[in-house]
Amino acid sequence: MSPFAHITGWGMAVPEKVLTNFELEQMVETTDEWIVSRTGIRERRIVSDDQTTASLATEASRRALEIAKINPGEIDLIIVSTSSPEYLFPATASLVQDRLGAVRAGAFDLLAACTGFIYGLNIATQAIRTGSIRTAIVIGAETLSRFVDWTDRDTCVLFGDGAGAFVLQAGEERAGLLSAVMRSDGSGGDLLYLPGGGSRYPTTIDTVNEGLHNIKMKGREVFRFATRVMAQATKEVVNKAQLSMDDIQLIIPHQANKRIIEVALKKLDFPMERCIVNLDRYGNTSTASIPIATCEAINDGRLKPGDHVVFVGFGGGLTWGAAVARWSGPFPGIKVVRPAFYSLYARLRSIINRVLRRIDAFILGRDNPYT
Ligand code: UT7
Repeated sequence: MSPFAHITGWGMAVPEKVLTNFELEQMVETTDEWIVSRTGIRERRIVSDDQTTASLATEASRRALEIAKINPGEIDLIIVSTSSPEYLFPATASLVQDRLGAVRAGAFDLLAACTGFIYGLNIATQAIRTGSIRTAIVIGAETLSRFVDWTDRDTCVLFGDGAGAFVLQAGEERAGLLSAVMRSDGSGGDLLYLPGGGSRYPTTIDTVNEGLHNIKMKGREVFRFATRVMAQATKEVVNKAQLSMDDIQLIIPHQANKRIIEVALKKLDFPMERCIVNLDRYGNTSTASIPIATCEAINDGRLKPGDHVVFVGFGGGLTWGAAVARWSGPFPGIKVVRPAFYSLYARLRSIINRVLRRIDAFILGRDNPYT
């Protein structure tokens, strides 16, 4: 029988700097009362100058690896879901691979906006289920504060920075992701997008002056779309897992707006007490919101082995999706892992590889790439 993809490790990383609604009142024409009543958000985290999407992703991954008790050398695949990658290329996932010292891993980025973590979980699960790989790490990481127009009150009050990661490992018992749905409707691409800096509008002085490098959103329309698809995708994915809503102990939705979550749960006739909401403290961290909320649910004892949990999200693209998982936790057994050793090793290895490449170029000659 094909193996299942157990979720055996989890970790989160959020910047220390907190930006409150009261501070935003000093920046744009808004009020704490408006933001809380329309979104549920009270504060969000913002990266410092020396933090990036890759640094948050790496930190979250190290924590997840410690919980799973595996060394980076055992990872076969790294997927970083992000809409705020470190560069257009190389992939942020490759930067994370290098920093972790995941010497055997393939690595790529995935862009499905706020739904990306669900897409990534599903892709990594399928790779494990076919027997192609045994261990993957899926990361949702964002530094959207770097792309927000801090004079636009429609968007700047919503987003925050952070990262969350899951380790997936092949296991025999029926656990991990049991079903998933992934959907897209590109006709709504202009409802939530960042136009500049891609091949359509490469960066020029004009694109900068026109503000094309900032997030644009038609909030009301995204709201309507979200409330429609959240309940629909949840029902579909639960059916697909051959379960009923009564079998679901917990829903962990994308943390965009408390009102969206409330409408979706009402449509599902599912109690709010069995849903994780932490957007009051982190705002909308896009694709990182589901793994961050999961880490907090576990720490608070709200997600336990044997529970069925639904992850459900929506976002730019438009994209939406859901997944059902049977929670199990780390594999039993005592294993010595050495994250500090691996970090040091990864840094040394990276430096040595760079130096060797230079020596190669010097000895073999720059003009003859085929020797
Ligand atoms: O991960 C996916 C990311 N995107 C989302 O999840 C966005 C989904 N949409 C939403 O969450 C909501 O639509 C918003 C929170 C963005 C807006 O809430 P709303 O209840 O849909 O407000 P609205 O857009 O209908 O605006 C109502 C009023 C407008 O003023 P007028 O035209 O009625 O005079 C806005 O200009 O609120 C005004 N407004 C604000 N007022 C104070 C918009 N933003 C603000 C603000 N502070 N920050």
